[in-house]
Amino acid sequence: MSFNLVLFGGTGDLSWRKLMPALFQAFRHGTLPPDGRILGVARDAMTDAQYRELIRTRFDQVELAKRPSAEEFDRFAALLHYQRMDLSKPEDYAALKARLSEHPADTTVMYLATSPNLFTTVCEQLGAAGLNTASTRVVLEKPLGQDLTSNRQINQTVLHYFSEKQIFRIDHYLGKPSVQNLLALRFGNALFEPVWRREHIANIQITMAEGLGVEKRGGYYDGIGALRDMVQNHALQLLCAIAMEPPINSHADAIRDEKLKVLRSLVRWTPTTLDQHAVRGQYAAGNMAGQAVPGYLQETGVNPQSQTETFVALRAEIANWRWAGVPFYIRTGKRLAGREAHIVVNFRATPHPIFKTPNGAANKLVIHLQPKDGLELHLLAQGQANRRDTGSLSYAQLDLDFDKRFGTERVGAYERLLLDVIDGRLNLFVRSDEQEAAWRWVEPVLEHWRNDTIPPRSYAAGTWGPSAASAMIARDGYSWEEETR
Ligand code: BG6
Repeated sequence: MSFNLVLFGGTGDLSWRKLMPALFQAFRHGTLPPDGRILGVARDAMTDAQYRELIRTRFDQVELAKRPSAEEFDRFAALLHYQRMDLSKPEDYAALKARLSEHPADTTVMYLATSPNLFTTVCEQLGAAGLNTASTRVVLEKPLGQDLTSNRQINQTVLHYFSEKQIFRIDHYLGKPSVQNLLALRFGNALFEPVWRREHIANIQITMAEGLGVEKRGGYYDGIGALRDMVQNHALQLLCAIAMEPPINSHADAIRDEKLKVLRSLVRWTPTTLDQHAVRGQYAAGNMAGQAVPGYLQETGVNPQSQTETFVALRAEIANWRWAGVPFYIRTGKRLAGREAHIVVNFRATPHPIFKTPNGAANKLVIHLQPKDGLELHLLAQGQANRRDTGSLSYAQLDLDFDKRFGTERVGAYERLLLDVIDGRLNLFVRSDEQEAAWRWVEPVLEHWRNDTIPPRSYAAGTWGPSAASAMIARDGYSWEEETR
């Protein structure tokens, strides 16, 4: 199969940090179809040779194991080409069309790794130039809008020129092996389904903690905040994977239909829940691994009076028969105690205890998403600790460490997603109605915080966020995973 991959934003951060390394990995593993051409597009005047040289130097920043040797890079570079474009000029799209006709391919991928405010312009211009043929696919990076209205506007324009099955909206969390494992866990095994419901589950926690701050993205991040950056997309997609009903098959729309139902069943916010179930925080100076780090307001590009949240904790509920009354706690933040993403399914206690148990409920399933990828099932067992007292049990845990079981070599998120775009598989991409439903749910929180006179709660860098997040979950009688370790 042959392909053309047009990379709008071909000299940008995303291209050289994520996309080129991912394309190279696919090339190295022999999964990238050999008859392909990657055409970087940007404003600068550059020859193909200069573009290749630019990309080559960028690979110096990639981790060693994923860096090409000189010989590998030369072979990979043969796929790389460059086209200078001003994205507002129709004549530049005509030139692009002429360039693409030099290498007619089965599939043409238009990857919009640009600022989202260019999405509509690029799609309109592609349409006007007749570059939206049936064999074209368009890839949209997040954020797709700032709110429901802007998201709809983008989707409507793109849908005017491309059909839904040609549009690949990226949520890179869906490309992570651990997230696909979650679907395998739930729908490849009969074991969990009978207990995967309100009768047996007390609460579910989704945590996506980052140790890093906003790094060089302060200027961008300050207008976005954690709710838009991580919750509207990644966290809600994880929530869907945990809460969705079994799809009728593994096709993209069967899966997306079920995810959509979850998003539509999220209990709407009320003034009371907005006050009590939505906590926002902002990091202050602190310590990360013994090193002093600045607070958010001191970061480059950030308004020193900013009220942008770098931490969010929410309590969500899903109004359906399976989940009614079960709290789903979502938490994400920058400059937290470390990089750790996990989902914890806390099961209910036995109805009638006959053993002496250390405390409360015994069973939980911890799904580790990163940095390690694996499962832990916590059980109570009769250990050997007390030889005379058989009534005392101890905690034990069954571990499935994916690195140990399957090796550390995994297909990275962007590698997986890029190959899926080229092959036309939509399973791991987000449909427009899912996105809109997610925006509809988070928008009242954004609105509430915009009008709130209470600023985000401060937390020291290197901690687990503001104490209000612990107080929120404690009101239900529960605690966050790390507080129980
Ligand atoms: C991106 C956010 O979508 O996800 C970043 O814009 C965040 O702010 C990143 O750092 C986290 O992704 P990962 O894969 O490192 O958990």
